[in-house]
Amino acid sequence: MHSRIITWAITVLLVVVTPSLWGASGHQDPPTLYEYFSSPDGENVTGLVAEVDGFKLNGRLIRLISGAMHYFRIHPALWRDRLRKLRATGANTVETYVAWNLHEPRKDEWDFGTGDNDNSIFLDIRTFIQMAKEEDLLVLFRPGPYICSEFEYGGLPSYLLRDPNMKVRTAYQPYLDRVKVYMDNLLPQVTDLQFTRGGPIIALQLENEYASFDMIELEYLEFLRQTYWDNGIDSLLFTSDGSWNGEKGSLPGVLKTANFGSGAESNFDDLLSFQPDKPVMCMEFWCGWFDHWFEDHSTTSPDDMAATLEVILGPRYNGSVNFYMFEGGTNFGFNAGANHGPHYAPDVTSYDYDAPLSEAGDYTPKYYRIMEAFGRYQIPVLKRPDLPLQSYKVAYPSIPVQTYLSYSDILDKAPASHKFQIQDRTTMENFPINGESGQKQGYVVYRKRANTTGGSATRFSAGRVRDFGLLIVDGELQPFPRDENGTVMYWLNSVQDYDLTLPDGEHTFDLLIENMGRVNFGYAWSFEQHKGLSPAEPTYHLNGEEIRDIEVTSLEFKGSWVKNLTGWRPNDGTLQAPVLVQSSFVIAQGMPPGDTFVDMSGWGKGIVFINGFNLGRYFNVGPQQTLYIPAPFLLEGENLITIFEQLQPHNEIKFSATPNLGRAVGRKLGKYGPSHFDFN
Ligand SMILES: *[C@@H]1O[C@H](CO)[C@@H](O)[C@H](O)[C@H]1NC(C)=O
Ligand SMILES: *[C@@H]1O[C@H](CO)[C@@H](O)[C@H](O)[C@H]1NC(C)=O
Ligand SMILES: *[C@@H]1O[C@H](CO)[C@@H](O)[C@H](O)[C@H]1NC(C)=O
Ligand SMILES: *[C@@H]1O[C@H](CO)[C@@H](O)[C@H](O)[C@H]1NC(C)=O
Ligand SMILES: *[C@@H]1O[C@H](CO)[C@@H](O)[C@H](O)[C@H]1NC(C)=O
Repeated sequence: MHSRIITWAITVLLVVVTPSLWGASGHQDPPTLYEYFSSPDGENVTGLVAEVDGFKLNGRLIRLISGAMHYFRIHPALWRDRLRKLRATGANTVETYVAWNLHEPRKDEWDFGTGDNDNSIFLDIRTFIQMAKEEDLLVLFRPGPYICSEFEYGGLPSYLLRDPNMKVRTAYQPYLDRVKVYMDNLLPQVTDLQFTRGGPIIALQLENEYASFDMIELEYLEFLRQTYWDNGIDSLLFTSDGSWNGEKGSLPGVLKTANFGSGAESNFDDLLSFQPDKPVMCMEFWCGWFDHWFEDHSTTSPDDMAATLEVILGPRYNGSVNFYMFEGGTNFGFNAGANHGPHYAPDVTSYDYDAPLSEAGDYTPKYYRIMEAFGRYQIPVLKRPDLPLQSYKVAYPSIPVQTYLSYSDILDKAPASHKFQIQDRTTMENFPINGESGQKQGYVVYRKRANTTGGSATRFSAGRVRDFGLLIVDGELQPFPRDENGTVMYWLNSVQDYDLTLPDGEHTFDLLIENMGRVNFGYAWSFEQHKGLSPAEPTYHLNGEEIRDIEVTSLEFKGSWVKNLTGWRPNDGTLQAPVLVQSSFVIAQGMPPGDTFVDMSGWGKGIVFINGFNLGRYFNVGPQQTLYIPAPFLLEGENLITIFEQLQPHNEIKFSATPNLGRAVGRKLGKYGPSHFDFN
């Protein structure tokens, strides 16, 4: 403790003296981060080390003040704006996860920004990291392989599920083999971007919240660490966990950090109880929270946030911090994850997170609160950029639905490779498409043609559908039942029987199932993550008889496919769901497009594409009612908006200049997250 006090006193002195050291010809500006921490000759750079009296970078004391921003949730044309807004608070570091399942969209196909996949534009990770350095930030790098993050399957690729014995996040050899292939493709791209080699990466995380479970296998962490080392990673390694779980999810020699949203004292005290000789860091300071469909929009109090931050940074702990999230961004496309327990709860499209910067990059009250606190606690004090301007927002005029493709048109236009026959129910991961990868995301139609006889009553039963089921008989969408109060009982990860009145003869029974996102947190190896119709489910029956010999159409709704669709019919006002609709609108030449929000409140449930890019899901149960369209997705001139509506089409498409994320409820973040939210 004594040596700590002396070092901190020296630091205070340094901070006071430093500006004059850097004030060439009378300038009073403090140095930039890289001016301060680089060696004059650029050589012999010591990376980040965690010592009893604090973090040191290249031998100099530093308090890590960091914010999480995921490159895969922010349009790349906006990365620089968001990074600068982070640096302008006084933060010195940006933290990002890496989404394995985006970088390996199909087994053994790698995409680091040059692919032809829906998410390719987001995936140039080197540029993101280099840009962080250009914006005078350091980088904390969290490559997973499991990242939780409210992201589809916690970032894991769904092809892993083709192995019926798969045990992800364990030392199961076939899993380790794929982890190694991933790391061997990813890490060589960032090795030279470590601080020790002149780049911004100061530390890397091993796995993610691995202490959360009892069935952990430390050989897996050892294997990961060795894989990092084998790829030339020589930076500090850390793990991050709820410190109430102890140190069981980490390894000796690896820095342990804590994740929490409140209760900084007890969390840091727990951390210090098993790691007394290191500086404390809150690696995920939950300054907001995420939303599920069917619930309210979570918000948390800026006062509570500021009070907890004060404890983290204050003299009792002199802690370091990473804001989770600084800017949340968007779960574009089919990328949203889900929770499990007490029931399946898929996440909404927005990942606004009630963070200091909003989903659209706007300053919020929390932003100014953290800027004020960072100003008092920076070590060292460094030069900051001016606050960038807010982006401008536009409410484009409403447009009528101009054209459509009917449900049968959509099925007709599915690629031939995506229509095939199966004998018994099979989940999408095991489909014979996409080489050895199967179907990752989107929708599946399981079709059975059959004769019914002996009167009008027909009973159709399917076991649990994963996740959202629609029954379409002879092209007619069957309504959902309602409970005693008239509330619609959606067929979501549940069992439903339909009693139908049909004339004798041949009928077509289509089960249209949507994968609403794989669970990103839980006992990832024991919870069922396969999507579609599983052979494990007891029923898929017509009049009590098991349905076999099924025609499948896989509907992945890839952007390239949507852009390519032809044969659109003029809207005659008789749209029937499910349906794909399309309209165009013009942004005048010379008028740079602005950020906007498409307001889906009059619609039912579906997905929206802007110029062929999948913005994500909407669902009138809320909370979210608008989808964010970042300006860089819009063009001067003609723009195409395409909507797949599953339940109730509308005839008008509306835009708004402000988001509507639904009815906000204030949540208190407990030690483990919001107090009334039960993960298990
Ligand atoms: C700096 O690095 C060079 C080359 O790696 C090495 O030879 C030299 O001893 C180092 N100097 C110091 C002071 O560590
Ligand atoms: C934190 O730093 C202050 C000086 O800024 C010092 O007085 C205090 O003892 C330090 N606390 C710890 C736990 O090191
Ligand atoms: C339904 O019955 C008709 C008349 O017997 C027959 O032609 C047709 O193939 C049957 N359809 C199916 C799917 O079995
Ligand atoms: C219907 O509403 C009543 C009165 O609000 C309530 O007690 C009951 O639980 C509701 N039923 C269902 C199935 O939600
Ligand atoms: C686009 O349509 C053309 C002509 O119908 C077809 O050859 C091509 O494969 C389609 N591309 C995609 C990505 O669906």
